[in-house]
Amino acid sequence: MKIAIIGTGYVGLVSGTCFAAWGNEVVCVDKDAHKIGALQGGAVPIYEPGLDELVERNSVAGRLSFTCNLAEAVKGAAVVFIAVGTPPRPGHGDADLSFVYMAARELAPLIDDNTVVVVKSTVPVGTGDIVHKIVGSTRKAGTFSVASNPEFLREGVAIEDFLQPDRVVIGVEDKVAEARLVALYGIPLEPKKTPIVVTRRRTSELIKYAANAFLATKITFINEMADLCEQVGSNVGELALGMGLDKRIGTSFLNAGPGYGGSCFPKDTMALLRTAQDYGVSVRIVEETVTANEARKRRMALKVMDALDNDVQGRTIAVLGLTFKPDTDDMRDAPSVPLIETLQRFGAHIRAYDPVGAENASRILSDVELHDDAYECARGADAVVVVTEWDSIRKLDLARLKKVMRQAVLIDLRNAFAPGVAEALGFRVSAIGRPT
Ligand code: UGA
Repeated sequence: MKIAIIGTGYVGLVSGTCFAAWGNEVVCVDKDAHKIGALQGGAVPIYEPGLDELVERNSVAGRLSFTCNLAEAVKGAAVVFIAVGTPPRPGHGDADLSFVYMAARELAPLIDDNTVVVVKSTVPVGTGDIVHKIVGSTRKAGTFSVASNPEFLREGVAIEDFLQPDRVVIGVEDKVAEARLVALYGIPLEPKKTPIVVTRRRTSELIKYAANAFLATKITFINEMADLCEQVGSNVGELALGMGLDKRIGTSFLNAGPGYGGSCFPKDTMALLRTAQDYGVSVRIVEETVTANEARKRRMALKVMDALDNDVQGRTIAVLGLTFKPDTDDMRDAPSVPLIETLQRFGAHIRAYDPVGAENASRILSDVELHDDAYECARGADAVVVVTEWDSIRKLDLARLKKVMRQAVLIDLRNAFAPGVAEALGFRVSAIGRPT
């Protein structure tokens, strides 16, 4: 099938590459000539394990190409995906849909008859209806379809998530769109018996927000349980296992930590709240999740202060891991940012290490000494704080780390080290959801 993907951001680039890997002919289009030039030369502008290789393999095979020319990209395409950004509107919190609508206006006169236009960007309920109106103002009804197909991939494991999803959700208003999208996904995923949920467009749009809000709530729940564990002398890791092995609950997304971040959960929970407000519906649990998570991120600095007897003035703190989670260079809404800024306000000197996020971090943080080696980062430090559980951080030799530090204090905000391990080496440890 010939497919065009508008927008070569995270979702667009990964989806386009994976559709090509399934044997489709994919053209990715973007207005950013610099990005397209790089991709044409084989350079992938985002950090995602395995993506460089998959882009190269499919480009060489002639199934994947990149262009700035929208007309060329959509000509002959059976499906055109809109995968442009929907950032939060500053000061509002709802999604800015201007890029989606612009893409719809621009593609309308260029697509062939019977093209299925699919909104893959995360968009509020009703966006598909507006896209349908925009395209319909140029083309006759019946000669095109507009569908919704939200994407559930996670950064860091994006390729695996796309090629082996738990489910695919398709929101359609007509049989042409349904048949084409079910074929597009159903043929490659059939051997894995992946469920394809076919529903109306509005339900599909809401599924995406509801899923992210539910996962954000699940994380917030376990984070609150972790606080309780610390007070009553329980262990949150074992608590999560004991709860999660109940199949109705599930063990995943029960890792307590410094609060969720990234480009999706904070943005999508806020956008869902705005939608609910617009329709006069109260979604209190999501509201509480947003508030609790923001407060938690700020509170993590107090945990560090506490471990240092509430005196960080003039002391050196080594922060290990800056990105919002491992295997990404993404710093958006990363818990490391409010943590570092608060500690700096209290007079601490911050050194930091991240395997790939340092460059992006340097654009956000100021007065932070960045190191590309964790042991160098910890040299002379009064405390080490683990904020992101990169593999390279989990595998650190704690005895070696202790030797270079001024004093052996470890604040492990991801429970990257098993209970007792650092303690046995003489560290004073403060972890999440464990009694100190
Ligand atoms: C999230 C969803 O998991 C994807 O399904 C969705 O497609 C994506 O948003 C999106 O809407 O585009 P992502 O933001 O890449 O994916 O990252 P997650 O792995 O979900 O992690 C989000 C945050 O939650 C991170 O800060 C992570 O550290 C935190 N987290 C996650 C925890 O604190 N505990 C957990 O148990 C799991």
